[in-house]
Amino acid sequence: MPNTEVSVRKILIVNGPNLNLLGEREPDIYGNQTLDELNGRLNELAGELDLQLTFFQSNSEGALIDFIQKEGRDALGMILNPGALTHYSYALRDVISAVNIETVEVHLSNIYSREQFRHHSAIAGACRGQITGFGYYGYAMALSYFADTERSQQ
Ligand code: DQA
Repeated sequence: MPNTEVSVRKILIVNGPNLNLLGEREPDIYGNQTLDELNGRLNELAGELDLQLTFFQSNSEGALIDFIQKEGRDALGMILNPGALTHYSYALRDVISAVNIETVEVHLSNIYSREQFRHHSAIAGACRGQITGFGYYGYAMALSYFADTERSQQ
């Protein structure tokens, strides 16, 4: 069932464990941009697309689930980088289905060109789709998708 109570312009930008360390964490893999810088660029793009972003990052699985339960019900969609939780968190997958929020899973790095354990996503089956390996642009692509989704609903 589509969520009919959505606030048409609200998009959640949710980042999981260790993504607060962007800029200093393995820059050869994740680049030099901090999470604040990435979010700032997304905010500028969201202004052009007339979308309102709500940002959240946590290293705790429970805090991520609590946030999605609280903020997900009236959002148009969510862009989620679950970090390593991608690979094993059925609880995070379940909350996406539980609050019925259309979700795009994004990864900065290409998870399929890295270690074997990163090739599986426990989350992807509950998502609209997955964008992996494009850094900041993965988030931007997902935002463009939601902007067009909203327009087609008007
Ligand atoms: C990541 C990929 C995950 O495998 C890893 O655990 C992360 C970041 C990415 O954005 O490329 O923390 O989600």
